[in-house]
Amino acid sequence: MYQILLKENLVPNIHLFQIAAPNVAKKAQAGQFVVIRIDEKGERIPLTIADWNREEGSVTVVFMGVGTTTHRLARLKESDSIANFIGPLGKPTHIDNFGTVVCVAGGFAVATIYPIARALKEKGNRVISIMGARSKDLIFWEDKLRSASDQLIVTTDDGSYARKGLVTEPLKELLEAGGVDRVIAIGPSIMMKFSAKTTEPFGVKTIVSLNPIMVDGTGMCGCCRVSVGDATRFVCVDGPDFDGHQVDWDLLLARQRIYLDEEKLSFERWQSQRANSS
Ligand SMILES: Cc1cc2nc3c(=O)[nH]c(=O)nc-3n(C[C@H](O)[C@H](O)[C@H](O)COP(=O)(O)OP(=O)(O)OC[C@H]3O[C@@H](n4cnc5c(N)ncnc54)[C@H](O)[C@@H]3O)c2cc1C
Ligand code: FES
Repeated sequence: MYQILLKENLVPNIHLFQIAAPNVAKKAQAGQFVVIRIDEKGERIPLTIADWNREEGSVTVVFMGVGTTTHRLARLKESDSIANFIGPLGKPTHIDNFGTVVCVAGGFAVATIYPIARALKEKGNRVISIMGARSKDLIFWEDKLRSASDQLIVTTDDGSYARKGLVTEPLKELLEAGGVDRVIAIGPSIMMKFSAKTTEPFGVKTIVSLNPIMVDGTGMCGCCRVSVGDATRFVCVDGPDFDGHQVDWDLLLARQRIYLDEEKLSFERWQSQRANSS
């Protein structure tokens, strides 16, 4: 069992868990993820490793409540335990001295991009980060990301904080100014798709971290299949990072919607079970 050492509600519906998992903490690298299962009847879901402490043997995950499992997870308390916490899985993000790297994060992905920005800065890159949220009340880890960046640009869709607009607008301005050697964009698929479309005319290599539905997380079930260039890839073992200019975004978006009816039914059942038991 894996104990929750710390729980924080970062903003409404986004939660941080620090979990005792020494074996995962020992090997974790930026860009990798874990597959967790709350109990023996639970479904397995992937969550990105947002941070780790090798001495303490702990791993931090940040997640948003979207369906049955993430809402069940959010109801756990400090000192509760979860049954499985498997990882680190996936290939670490390629970290090298590229020059100037723009890290773009949408929504809760600020937690995903933070260890990547930190690793890039430690490697000597000039890191410019852009973080975007729908509104001010959904902004978190601004100071953490600033500490891992040479420059930080914050946007909100509704203009309630910092710059009004989408992350792709400052991204385009930076590309027009020149001198960007690489872009890493992480967030909802639609945001990554449009970030890649923004960088494509400038010919700047753009890495995205794909988030298809996963089951086993070990390359066996085929559930996380995506099309990249001319090849079929499995995100759990070949990724999650891929060249954003090569991803078949329409296929990815369609496959993410395959189980919408079942997911809705599962969430409604869970809510009615909760209502009956309280
Ligand atoms: C490699 C990887 C890393 C991830 N890291 C994180 C993370 O750090 N924090 C976090 O909050 N989430 C992360 N996700 C997404 C997370 O796994 C899903 O939100 C979770 O599986 C949903 O489970 P559920 O039972 O709560 O909701 P479900 O009932 O399964 O789904 C509810 C809704 O969420 C959508 N959804 C389901 N799976 C995904 C997905 N993979 N991506 C986007 N939308 C999805 C569904 O289409 C549906 O609309 C990651 C996914 C992958 C593949
Ligand atoms: S999740 Fe099963 S192959 Fe990737």
